[in-house]
Amino acid sequence: MEVTAKKTKPLRGIITIPSDKSISHRAAMFASLTGGRVKITNFSNGADCHSTLNIIRDMGCEIEIPSEQTIIVDAKNAYKQKLDNYMLNCGNSGTTMRLFSGIIASKEDIAATLYGDESLSARPMKRIILPLELMGAKIRHNAFKAPLFIKGVELFPIDYKTPVSSAQVKSCVLLAGLNTTGKTSVTEHYISRNHTERMLKYLGADIETENNTVCIKKSSLEPKDISVCGDISSAAFFMAAAAMVPESDIVIKNVGLNPTRTGIIDVMQKMGADIEILQQQTVCNEECGDIRVRYSGLKGVTIDGEIIPRLIDEIPVIAVLATQAEGTTTIKDAGDLRNKESDRIKCLVNELKKTGAIIEETPDGMIVEGKIDIKGGCQTECYHDHRLAMSLYMLGLVSKEGIEINEFQWVDISFPEFLGLVKDLTDY
Ligand code: S3P
Repeated sequence: MEVTAKKTKPLRGIITIPSDKSISHRAAMFASLTGGRVKITNFSNGADCHSTLNIIRDMGCEIEIPSEQTIIVDAKNAYKQKLDNYMLNCGNSGTTMRLFSGIIASKEDIAATLYGDESLSARPMKRIILPLELMGAKIRHNAFKAPLFIKGVELFPIDYKTPVSSAQVKSCVLLAGLNTTGKTSVTEHYISRNHTERMLKYLGADIETENNTVCIKKSSLEPKDISVCGDISSAAFFMAAAAMVPESDIVIKNVGLNPTRTGIIDVMQKMGADIEILQQQTVCNEECGDIRVRYSGLKGVTIDGEIIPRLIDEIPVIAVLATQAEGTTTIKDAGDLRNKESDRIKCLVNELKKTGAIIEETPDGMIVEGKIDIKGGCQTECYHDHRLAMSLYMLGLVSKEGIEINEFQWVDISFPEFLGLVKDLTDY
């Protein structure tokens, strides 16, 4: 499906964005480990979280869907059928594959093949295979890539220092540790998103964080209901659009504000964006609130170091924003962007150049010059990457001649409602 994003009038109004993808994955997975009934409200309807849901169903959970985006997971029969040939389809979802690897590796009498689509099959899995093997896991792999064949065995605890700050690696080891006698710890150089730690704690696990180290001991989880907030990574596209399109003024309701995810707010404020947080509260051990963004002049900034894991998924849209900021924006220490759904450095720089942006690729990031009148009038590719598709779309809203994006259906991975919400904010 081709979509053309055209210059727009100001964005105005109030929207609710989709449910947080990271938290939805964890809600379904952890519910499957409780042995009881868990109601999850505002569960993501993106394709990625449905890959996770299909897998917990394969593992014996019953899933009821009493109303749109509410699911009930009944886990009384989960992981009971001792099969050695489960085939678990992770689709496009790195979170599904990496977190389930930690769960399966410690489930004795179960063996499974975890596989995915072409993009997921090309992504690095060594980062989880190595620590799991240190714990004694039995894994066969395709040169450290998927498919992964994992035979569950009794594991032993480790103290692991991660070579990359990655919530997926940290969560994989913690989930293996959850079912391992003794104390497992994970230490990161910079702290990555901590939804796993918070939700496991909420469900009663023996888990503690001190500075950059998380420790977990074997625990059982209580079946407690979970309500999922909106995804700041999805909100980011609209925050950027409102900050770039003159006279915009929008409110995004019920967005997750966990500090390990709010790097986008910090960076936009540093760029001079007008952002206000309203109605802040804590739900199921996660902060959330409404975000108001009004158009304002922006300036270029340097983004590097500890903030990178706190905004890793927002870098494509930050690069777009930087084209509309006075001066130079430099993004460093973000080399892991090359291992996402696409090589987000190379692909983004390629496509933004086509639109008239002034942007250069560096080994671990990019340098963007602003403020530039974006000519557009070009066809762009999203490389099967939902976040590239939505970032290019938002740039189209400030382009002279519009930006065409091929294969726009990839947005359904995280945000099927995207175009509807653009219409809600611009069609008044
Ligand atoms: C995620 C962690 C991040 C992020 C991804 C979701 C998670 O990946 O990019 O979209 O839910 O744990 P890394 O852990 O590889 O940084």
